[in-house]
Amino acid sequence: MHVSGLERVSACLFDAYGTLFDFASAAAACEAAPVERRAALTALWRDKQLQYSWLRSLQGRYVDFWNVTGDALDYALDNLGLADAGLRDPLMALYRRLSPFPEVPATLRALRGAGYATAILSNGSPAMLADAVAAAGLEGLFDAVMSVDPLRVFKTDPRVYQYALDRLGLAASEVAFLSSNGWDAYAASDFGLGVVWCNRYRQPRERLPGAPDFEISNLAELPPLLGVR
Ligand code: LAC
Repeated sequence: MHVSGLERVSACLFDAYGTLFDFASAAAACEAAPVERRAALTALWRDKQLQYSWLRSLQGRYVDFWNVTGDALDYALDNLGLADAGLRDPLMALYRRLSPFPEVPATLRALRGAGYATAILSNGSPAMLADAVAAAGLEGLFDAVMSVDPLRVFKTDPRVYQYALDRLGLAASEVAFLSSNGWDAYAASDFGLGVVWCNRYRQPRERLPGAPDFEISNLAELPPLLGVR
């Protein structure tokens, strides 16, 4: 039985960082990073990574997400007085093999077992995404792993969401978009996708265009929402 609003969905399209892969796992696994600074480092690194992606899109000054991630890390380390701590290389290496959230493999298997297509749509560069999927043991669990890179612009440019529909050959009503990033969930909704906001960080609603159709707290809630047992 399908929940109202998702009847026509045949594919689940996932954001990557924060949704499938835990970006906090890089600093958490970095032995050289001071334990008491890891949370602040994770937050500032992530905030700057996103800001730089949006600003570069606004300015028409695209570089790929690997470079954005490195620039953001440099800023964060500098801001926190850690620029000379030898953390850049280990943290960047750890970002290539982030931990998946625990429920991710079983969720993907359940969806695919029930006949849903599964795919990724991410700001991540193609090489970053390939490494993340492989390191997490998720190879073979996606019909498509799509990067914004061919478009040379980042989310939330609407062309990014259209690109995924074009690649999948599906209409918006046939796709459920899953993101843990509120700004991404709202933008995808404003574009016209059916959106399930995986609000694992318990964020308040965004004051932005769009309105996610459903809200769950982790991806294990997605198969039941779609009527998959
Ligand atoms: C992504 C980031 C923005 O995977 O979470 O697109």
